[in-house]
Amino acid sequence: MSAATAGQGAVLSGRRVVLGVGGSIAAYKAASLARLLVGVGAQVRVVLTGAAARFVGPALFAGLTGEPVATDLFEPRTIDHIALARWADAGLVAPATADLLARAALGLADDYLTTWLLAFPGPVAFAPAMNHRMWEQPAVRRAVATLRADGRHLIGPVYGPLGAPGEGEGHGRLAEPEAIVAALASLLAPRAPTRFAGRRVVVTAGPTREPLDAVRFLSNRSSGRMGFALAEALRDRGAAVTVVRGPVALADPPRVRVLGVETALEMREAVRAEATGAAAVFAAAAVSDWRARAVAPGKWKRGGAAERTIELVANPDILAELGRDPQGTVLVGFAAEAGGDLAEARRKLDAKGLHLIVHNDVLHPDAGFEVETNRVTILHRDGAVAEVGPLHKRAVAEAIVDAAERWLPE
Ligand code: C5P
Repeated sequence: MSAATAGQGAVLSGRRVVLGVGGSIAAYKAASLARLLVGVGAQVRVVLTGAAARFVGPALFAGLTGEPVATDLFEPRTIDHIALARWADAGLVAPATADLLARAALGLADDYLTTWLLAFPGPVAFAPAMNHRMWEQPAVRRAVATLRADGRHLIGPVYGPLGAPGEGEGHGRLAEPEAIVAALASLLAPRAPTRFAGRRVVVTAGPTREPLDAVRFLSNRSSGRMGFALAEALRDRGAAVTVVRGPVALADPPRVRVLGVETALEMREAVRAEATGAAAVFAAAAVSDWRARAVAPGKWKRGGAAERTIELVANPDILAELGRDPQGTVLVGFAAEAGGDLAEARRKLDAKGLHLIVHNDVLHPDAGFEVETNRVTILHRDGAVAEVGPLHKRAVAEAIVDAAERWLPE
């Protein structure tokens, strides 16, 4: 057994998995999946949709798993879906067809598998397989987004040769069975105990927008990605997360409370109200340092002028205000600096009364605004320093949350 498989075995051994099989040419690969799962010690019960049963038969899966196979909701000898939902620890739908994704997203219960999905409260992963044009259809995109928002997991699809001869290559191929089993194992792996479980936290994200006249504003390139990644990492550790975000193009992260604001003053009001009694505030927003002293009611006219002067006044520093009135809330700041010098970040950490500050060098191509990855240095108030990345922003978020946990009282 390889090290990876040994690890998966430790997670999946003795776990009860319902393997739902959809009607795709890739249905034959569900047999390998069933074998692999049984091989790492899982108990597997297979549910075939009517279409799947036309590609592969129940006898195959009954033979591989040593367990009865369900296909028909009304077959009297079949275990009922409620009992099977009580039995299972996890669900894996592979291959998941476009039809199955759509029915699951809508909450339809028109066959055994979809009825079981509704009855089962535990973790479920879908491994889609379909022609790449089907995968790109807006209807399929909507179904996938809904399933994600409902807390379902998606494994693949991957790019590669598609099922039928002459279909060519595309993004729609079922992930390899070994990769699906590895993903399922990591999904079910117990998370380290976290101090954030049950705590209330606030995350600021995105830019602020400071109006100059009726149509123009002062803003910056912050995308909100780092803040949203933090919100999701905290949510997945069981925290009750409120995100206060400026205008961003990204969809709001699912299953967190989101308060949308526009200006720094609005962000300050929302953060002040939310921070009272919160366990931690993560200030990932790029708050505009300045706002116009007066906002023109209409639209500025050029009026032949060669110059225009805008008078700006400083915005309040939201985070520093929280730091001046410490109430036991762990305060995490961000310092986006042009260059690798940490002195300025350390100065901000002290000046704003923070527990830690996350420095990133915005001149680096794999860090900073508008990119998926980040590389950061985490500075603690007691002088401890850790370098993280370059990694996907979600992985960087996990490291930042780990660092913040150090300062959170038990
Ligand atoms: O001073 P600087 O803007 O670089 O500080 C960055 C940190 O302070 C970030 O965590 C940012 O969210 C926070 N900040 C704030 N209010 C401001 C300016 C910055 O909360 N007006």
